[in-house]
Amino acid sequence: MFNKLLSLFRGIPVTIHDTTKIEEGSARTATLGDLAAGATQVLIARVDGKLHAIDTICPHQNGRIEGGKLKPGNAAVCAVHGYWFDVTDGSVKRGTCRKAKVYRIEEKDGQATVWL
Ligand code: FES
Repeated sequence: MFNKLLSLFRGIPVTIHDTTKIEEGSARTATLGDLAAGATQVLIARVDGKLHAIDTICPHQNGRIEGGKLKPGNAAVCAVHGYWFDVTDGSVKRGTCRKAKVYRIEEKDGQATVWL
Protein backbone atom coordinates (compact mmCIF):
# COMPACT_ATOMS: atom_id res chain seq x y z
CA MET A 1 0.00 0.00 0.00
CA PHE A 2 2.73 2.43 0.99
CA ASN A 3 4.74 1.62 -2.15
CA LYS A 4 1.69 2.24 -4.37
CA LEU A 5 1.13 5.59 -2.69
CA LEU A 6 4.81 6.45 -3.05
CA SER A 7 4.74 5.59 -6.79
CA LEU A 8 2.02 8.22 -7.28
CA PHE A 9 4.55 10.85 -6.29
CA ARG A 10 7.75 9.34 -7.63
CA GLY A 11 6.40 7.73 -10.80
CA ILE A 12 6.80 4.15 -11.96
CA PRO A 13 10.44 2.98 -12.21
CA VAL A 14 11.51 1.41 -15.51
CA THR A 15 14.97 -0.08 -16.13
CA ILE A 16 17.04 0.64 -19.24
CA HIS A 17 19.98 -1.67 -19.96
CA ASP A 18 23.37 -1.00 -21.61
CA THR A 19 23.40 2.72 -20.91
CA THR A 20 27.20 2.83 -21.12
CA LYS A 21 26.74 2.66 -24.91
CA ILE A 22 25.20 6.14 -24.89
CA GLU A 23 28.14 8.36 -25.81
CA GLU A 24 28.85 11.80 -24.43
CA GLY A 25 26.89 14.46 -26.33
CA SER A 26 24.48 12.04 -27.93
CA ALA A 27 21.03 10.62 -27.33
CA ARG A 28 19.11 7.49 -28.17
CA THR A 29 15.44 6.64 -28.06
CA ALA A 30 14.23 4.05 -25.57
CA THR A 31 10.79 2.49 -25.71
CA LEU A 32 9.56 1.80 -22.20
CA GLY A 33 6.82 -0.80 -22.09
CA ASP A 34 4.81 -2.44 -24.86
CA LEU A 35 4.07 -0.12 -27.82
CA ALA A 36 0.76 -1.88 -28.48
CA ALA A 37 -0.25 -1.14 -24.89
CA GLY A 38 0.65 2.53 -25.00
CA ALA A 39 4.37 2.49 -24.25
CA THR A 40 6.30 5.67 -23.54
CA GLN A 41 9.24 6.67 -25.69
CA VAL A 42 11.94 8.76 -24.06
CA LEU A 43 15.18 10.17 -25.32
CA ILE A 44 18.12 9.20 -23.13
CA ALA A 45 21.03 11.62 -23.50
CA ARG A 46 24.46 11.91 -21.90
CA VAL A 47 25.76 15.39 -20.99
CA ASP A 48 28.90 15.88 -18.88
CA GLY A 49 28.83 12.18 -18.08
CA LYS A 50 25.32 12.29 -16.64
CA LEU A 51 22.19 10.79 -18.20
CA HIS A 52 19.06 12.82 -18.85
CA ALA A 53 15.63 11.66 -20.01
CA ILE A 54 13.24 13.76 -22.10
CA ASP A 55 9.94 12.81 -23.72
CA THR A 56 10.19 12.23 -27.47
CA ILE A 57 6.79 13.89 -28.02
CA CYS A 58 7.38 17.48 -29.04
CA PRO A 59 5.29 20.01 -27.06
CA HIS A 60 4.86 22.17 -30.19
CA GLN A 61 2.60 19.98 -32.34
CA ASN A 62 3.31 16.46 -31.14
CA GLY A 63 6.18 15.82 -33.53
CA ARG A 64 9.05 13.52 -32.60
CA ILE A 65 12.20 14.73 -30.85
CA GLU A 66 14.98 12.62 -32.27
CA GLY A 67 18.17 11.08 -30.96
CA GLY A 68 21.68 11.25 -32.37
CA LYS A 69 24.45 13.77 -31.83
CA LEU A 70 23.25 16.70 -29.72
CA LYS A 71 23.30 20.27 -31.07
CA PRO A 72 25.04 23.13 -29.22
CA GLY A 73 23.36 23.85 -25.88
CA ASN A 74 22.74 20.13 -25.30
CA ALA A 75 19.85 20.25 -27.72
CA ALA A 76 17.88 17.50 -29.41
CA VAL A 77 15.85 18.43 -32.47
CA CYS A 78 12.23 17.82 -33.41
CA ALA A 79 11.93 16.26 -36.85
CA VAL A 80 8.79 18.20 -37.83
CA HIS A 81 9.63 21.93 -37.56
CA GLY A 82 13.19 21.72 -36.26
CA TYR A 83 12.72 23.19 -32.78
CA TRP A 84 15.61 22.53 -30.40
CA PHE A 85 15.11 21.28 -26.81
CA ASP A 86 17.73 21.19 -24.06
CA VAL A 87 17.82 17.55 -22.95
CA THR A 88 18.92 18.51 -19.43
CA ASP A 89 15.78 20.47 -18.53
CA GLY A 90 13.42 20.37 -21.55
CA SER A 91 13.73 24.11 -22.21
CA VAL A 92 13.31 25.41 -25.75
CA LYS A 93 16.55 26.54 -27.39
CA ARG A 94 15.10 27.31 -30.82
CA GLY A 95 11.40 27.85 -31.43
CA THR A 96 8.48 29.05 -29.35
CA CYS A 97 6.47 26.57 -27.32
CA ARG A 98 6.37 25.19 -23.79
CA LYS A 99 9.15 23.00 -22.35
CA ALA A 100 9.42 19.34 -23.23
CA LYS A 101 8.62 16.89 -20.46
CA VAL A 102 11.63 15.52 -18.62
CA TYR A 103 11.88 12.45 -16.42
CA ARG A 104 13.95 11.61 -13.38
CA ILE A 105 16.74 9.18 -14.30
CA GLU A 106 19.54 7.54 -12.32
CA GLU A 107 22.36 5.43 -13.76
CA LYS A 108 24.25 2.72 -11.91
CA ASP A 109 26.44 -0.16 -13.11
CA GLY A 110 25.61 0.21 -16.79
CA GLN A 111 21.88 0.48 -16.44
CA ALA A 112 19.50 3.27 -15.62
CA THR A 113 16.15 3.68 -13.93
CA VAL A 114 13.66 6.16 -15.36
CA TRP A 115 10.62 7.19 -13.32
CA LEU A 116 7.60 7.63 -15.61
S1 FES B 1 6.06 19.55 -33.91
FE1 FES B 1 8.03 19.69 -33.07
S2 FES B 1 8.77 21.60 -33.70
FE2 FES B 1 6.75 21.52 -34.48
